[in-house]
Amino acid sequence: MPNALVLGGATGLVGQALARVLTANGWHVETLGRTDGNLLDIAFLESRLTAAAPDVVFNAVAWTQVDDAEEHPDEALLLNRTLPDALARILSAQQRGWLVHFSTDFVFSGQRRTPWTEEDPPCPASVYGKTKLAGEQAVLNTLPERSSVIRSAWLFGHGRKNFVDTVLAACRQRDSVSVVHDQTGSPTYSLDLAHWSLKIAEKKAAGLWHAVNGGQATWCELASEANALMAFPCRVEPVTSAQWPQKAVRPTYSVLDTTKLGNFLGAPVRPWPLALRDFLFSEHQADS
Ligand SMILES: NC(=O)c1ccc[n+]([C@@H]2O[C@H](COP(=O)([O-])OP(=O)(O)OC[C@H]3O[C@@H](n4cnc5c(N)ncnc54)[C@H](OP(=O)(O)O)[C@@H]3O)[C@@H](O)[C@H]2O)c1
Repeated sequence: MPNALVLGGATGLVGQALARVLTANGWHVETLGRTDGNLLDIAFLESRLTAAAPDVVFNAVAWTQVDDAEEHPDEALLLNRTLPDALARILSAQQRGWLVHFSTDFVFSGQRRTPWTEEDPPCPASVYGKTKLAGEQAVLNTLPERSSVIRSAWLFGHGRKNFVDTVLAACRQRDSVSVVHDQTGSPTYSLDLAHWSLKIAEKKAAGLWHAVNGGQATWCELASEANALMAFPCRVEPVTSAQWPQKAVRPTYSVLDTTKLGNFLGAPVRPWPLALRDFLFSEHQADS
């Protein structure tokens, strides 16, 4: 039975999806999070990795508060670069174990209108994006032969509040909600991401991967689709980013190209509207 250590596996959106899908597929799963100890204490981290002796470490711990990162760049850097760097160094020194690390579409920005591939040079516009890029680079530089860095985006799923939950809670209560329509990305189901991550880990597929559902949407389109599926009598109204100011600059277009992942899986990734239906209506669909 393969053995996984999932950082963030007890509480994170991606971590919980990973723990669920790995367990459903016969893996022994241990989780590691802040209630177990200080993950930034290298001696503690090393002792937990030694004790667990995992075949694969999945790092789904991160500073994910995109706007707060603008005011806490040092703390964001500790979680988003120092932690994955430490994991890679420990596994390198132990000469065993594979590292799967998660990153983000927010490493891209700019005026482009075609999907970003793994070969495209990143250009993050926010502190969050910059610290996540630094984390990717640390992992790939330190453990190039034994690591996979998986960029995902715009996640919805069970176990932790996310955009779809938030917008549906508003739609349930209100006559209208305003949602940004000038940012376009790749909505993605956390269970689909966990499933692809499992395949990448099983095959020990090293390097950088873009792992998102197919198609693209604006936040407003994603909200409209979720609202329509739930048949709430609420209007979803488009607003511009300028009308909805946020501390961190978001990419206007961060759709990720999944050609590499589709070739690896032997089939294209399914479109996000299908995944959204599964999330809303059939809880156990993507376990295996
Ligand atoms: N969500 C998205 O839309 C999205 C999009 C693209 C990429 N990603 C990437 O996917 C990965 C997972 O993100 P997610 O959405 O699952 O995030 P999440 O739901 O916010 O979970 C983050 C995890 O990190 C843990 N964590 C945060 N600060 C910590 C600290 N100081 N010490 C220990 N643990 C700490 C959290 O623990 P607590 O529960 O104790 O706070 C939680 O388990 C990240 O690398 C993120 O960049 C996410």
